[in-house]
Amino acid sequence: MPSEWVFLVICLIPMASGGTTAPPLSASPIVFARNLFRVLNEENPPKNMMVSPAAARSAMTLVFMGAGGKSMEELRSKLILGAANKTEIAKQNMETWIDECSCAKKGVILKLVTRLYVNSEDKIRPEFNTKAMDFFNAQVDPLNYLQPEDAVKKVNKWLEKQTFYTVRNLFTPEDINPDSSVMLVSSLFFRAKWAKIFPVENTKVDDFWINPRQRMELPMMQQIGQFRYGESKKLKSQILQIPFEKSNITLMIILPTDIDGLPKLEEKLGLVDLNEVAAKSLLKEVDVTVPKFRIECEVDLKVPMQKLGINRIFEPDQADLSGLFADKTPQRISEARHKLFLNVTETGCETAPETKDIKPEVIKDNPDRKVFKADRPFVFAIRNKKNVYFVGHFSKP
Ligand SMILES: *[C@@H]1O[C@H](CO)[C@@H](O)[C@H](O)[C@H]1NC(C)=O
Ligand SMILES: *[C@@H]1O[C@H](CO)[C@@H](O)[C@H](O)[C@H]1NC(C)=O
Ligand SMILES: *[C@@H]1O[C@H](CO)[C@@H](O)[C@H](O)[C@H]1NC(C)=O
Repeated sequence: MPSEWVFLVICLIPMASGGTTAPPLSASPIVFARNLFRVLNEENPPKNMMVSPAAARSAMTLVFMGAGGKSMEELRSKLILGAANKTEIAKQNMETWIDECSCAKKGVILKLVTRLYVNSEDKIRPEFNTKAMDFFNAQVDPLNYLQPEDAVKKVNKWLEKQTFYTVRNLFTPEDINPDSSVMLVSSLFFRAKWAKIFPVENTKVDDFWINPRQRMELPMMQQIGQFRYGESKKLKSQILQIPFEKSNITLMIILPTDIDGLPKLEEKLGLVDLNEVAAKSLLKEVDVTVPKFRIECEVDLKVPMQKLGINRIFEPDQADLSGLFADKTPQRISEARHKLFLNVTETGCETAPETKDIKPEVIKDNPDRKVFKADRPFVFAIRNKKNVYFVGHFSKP
């Protein structure tokens, strides 16, 4: 019997809780983010890494919509979705994204789109399709898996357009074979300007310490201003939040005091959530130096999901996708990929360069001014109180 395959792919761009008391449901995205970051760090050798917990959770929640039986209950528990029925959970998912997606000209653009590609021969339950469209900005589209070249072209073209041409050729024809049944492709696009941009003339090439013995030169942006800043003895780190224009979303950087302090910091972050860390920072005058950086990475989400205890949906003899397919066939999710791209510049993240001149501000002397210089490996997160859109670490230019 030919087995059916389901591909889950998440592009661009972030369980059970560790404690004994259940967190309030509103905290679930934050707890999920912490858990996902923890298992990814167990996995990864020390290289640049980034994940979108918000996009991963949303895409897996769409899989939950199509799951049945024990597969569904496992997803409910590990994604911390609570006890509500599917319709309610779909609504909650939509509300998280609507709240934050102010797709206006100004402010943050945060756009999550999802598409399900199905083999044109498979029958999909119509009620699944309705939910996908209404609550997940997702759509089911038939593909001819017997023509992988054409199928791949179609998927890649759609993805390029959704990501404003930052993600190209994610799939190759080898990713599609006649045994495939569904590809779930989802993309989170983020574009935002800093509330106060870094003057381009302040950017200078400076040392970035990869480890105590090795340094590399890197363009560093600099400005002095009011920022939320904190020092944590527990994390042995400085904390800084750089706000984006017209938004509650900030880039938070957690900078270890020691050049080689990243592994210890990440171990501790497995036990503390990012809202607790953010609460430690208060408005202060800070002299900020951070590198211009760019991260592009691909994470196989299947492994971290399995580490979080989501197993059944990936297993040929256990997966139950009866909420998705009209006919009973052995189906499972065989791939879960996560492709992300982040470009941090003087103007913000993945934004066009600012052309207008900015007058240099006159900065008065301030003996209390804090110095925050991110010239060694650090953890960063693009987040607000309700969700973690990206989290990762930058350890090497
Ligand atoms: C789901 O829950 C909501 C709120 O409790 C309820 O109004 C709705 O009828 C339920 N839907 C189904 C299909 O059970
Ligand atoms: C930021 O959060 C506050 C309080 O939660 C809210 O009133 C305000 O509208 C939010 N601003 C934006 C731009 O989301
Ligand atoms: C990053 O953004 C800057 C400013 O918009 C742009 O000049 C640069 O080409 C971008 N880098 C990449 C790799 O897209």
